[in-house]
Amino acid sequence: MKDTIRHLIQQALTRLTAEGVLPEGLSPAIQVENTKDKSNGDFASNIAMMLAKPAAMKPRDLAEKLVAALPADDGIAKVEIAGPGFLNFFQNSDALAQRLEAALADASLGVRKSGPAQRVVVDLSAPNLAKEMHVGHLRSTIIGDGVARVLEFLGDEVIRQNHVGDWGTQFGMLLAYMQEQPVGSDAELADLESFYRAAKKRFDDSAEFAERARQLVVQLQAGDAECMRLWHRFNDISLSHCQALYDRLGVKLSMADVKGESAYNDDLAQVIADLAAKGLLTEDNGAQCVFMDEFKNAEGNPLPLIVQKAGGGYLYATTDLAATRYRANVLKAERVLYFVDQRQALHFQMVFACARLAGFVPPSMALEHMGFGTMNGPDGKPFKTRDGGTVKLVELLDEAEQRAYALVKEKNPELDEDELREIARVVGIASVKYADLSKHRTSDYRFNFELMLSFEGNTAPYLLYAYTRVASLFRKLGKEVGEIGGQIRIEAPQEQALAGKLAQFADTLNNVAGKGEPHLLCAYLYDLAGLFSSFYENCPILAAEDQATQQSRLRLAALTGRTLKQGLELLGLPTLERM
Ligand code: ARG
Repeated sequence: MKDTIRHLIQQALTRLTAEGVLPEGLSPAIQVENTKDKSNGDFASNIAMMLAKPAAMKPRDLAEKLVAALPADDGIAKVEIAGPGFLNFFQNSDALAQRLEAALADASLGVRKSGPAQRVVVDLSAPNLAKEMHVGHLRSTIIGDGVARVLEFLGDEVIRQNHVGDWGTQFGMLLAYMQEQPVGSDAELADLESFYRAAKKRFDDSAEFAERARQLVVQLQAGDAECMRLWHRFNDISLSHCQALYDRLGVKLSMADVKGESAYNDDLAQVIADLAAKGLLTEDNGAQCVFMDEFKNAEGNPLPLIVQKAGGGYLYATTDLAATRYRANVLKAERVLYFVDQRQALHFQMVFACARLAGFVPPSMALEHMGFGTMNGPDGKPFKTRDGGTVKLVELLDEAEQRAYALVKEKNPELDEDELREIARVVGIASVKYADLSKHRTSDYRFNFELMLSFEGNTAPYLLYAYTRVASLFRKLGKEVGEIGGQIRIEAPQEQALAGKLAQFADTLNNVAGKGEPHLLCAYLYDLAGLFSSFYENCPILAAEDQATQQSRLRLAALTGRTLKQGLELLGLPTLERM
């Protein structure tokens, strides 16, 4: 609908320009917003205020000219001028009802991608193997998965790439520690995280150990057979831990999506050679650097992107440069989204600029860093356990499930144990994921069990519960949507508000896809659930005055249920039929 209105306004502007009311050469970005208060219509535009100055007219006068010049459209019942010169558009209820009927009859709920389908690489999760996966990687995993699902739903071809850190200096440490106390069985190694901690302690305490670790990295990178064997073993164990976590979280990631840093080894020397051939390399203290005009440090001095260390070693940036060209040439991506901590923003700006300068990617390929804020503890400080240690993700999820169990049991003591456990599992995991998804992506975020598990507010339990209300309505009725008959009629103000929101699902998903911001979908579902609630309280359904009204309301409820379920699934949250 917003697109339609923008198009109508554009036509009116063209007409007024031809008539000489507006000067030639204006090409304003036409803004159309959803109104908050339905007495102002369903959509509003401030275009008359934006163009009043260049047109040398009062905004309200221009608004009147615009309204007169707007072509008629079936979807719009009327247009009014409000306040200083807003254009308020009122949807035509019949046209709206027809759209909703079409959505109800469609497996994709009438959602289409605005713009052509694309092949999109989503770079997500990317923990550093052998170390503990930390809360930052949890954010990347959850948010990246949510956006990937939305892109797929809109028809994009999504290629997930788990760019795990499997080649870093941490392996030298592990190898050196392994030499000191050969660990035999897989069972012993299964607790790789404590093994890593012990190795790290040795590394920090002993200069001799640290030196040995560094040499082992060189040996490993040179392909030494014994080092490689152990390296594979570490990685296999570590990846199987990651996979267990993905499965538990219900994240669509598998071993086939892993394309770690080590996968680009063979291309790194070539990356350097190609940069050199393009004349982009400068030697600085023995290191190979790329200097780009747009990057300066705080003192205004040129800031280098270091691509090879003085000793010959390659860096994180070198691997990322190699990855850009793999994604361009082999994966043929048209768009690449990187879900990585906001603190790496400069790294990505420099890598993207360098990849373009070197011609590693075609100009048409979009490279977008989808940065996110830091996950902090409830006190707003970096996330730590009470005794100052790092929080284990598995323990975090265990606690969420336990708390959910207690809450659900209290609400619903008569549930049998198996169902209770299943509900607690779904609610616990969903709460952790939703808390992460519903915050603005770039904000830092406070982890708080009480808030995320609350049945009130913009939370998973609230939305899951809203869905069960719709489900229970149809259970009571003993009918499926297909058996209801009749058609949607939009009359009461609560019906109007709910219907208007339902019609915004496609717009919302397109925004999520464009901006990579799943919180927009969360906010939408939260609003939808709230509007459903007031509809449910004000518009009797099972006790409706006549059959046609009942059918219409049931159809609205059914579409709400399907939209909630689909929306939650796109966020990676399964729904429950009761809780
Ligand atoms: N392993 C990296 C880290 O933990 C994240 C990698 C993100 N992806 C990328 N292409 N650099 O910081």
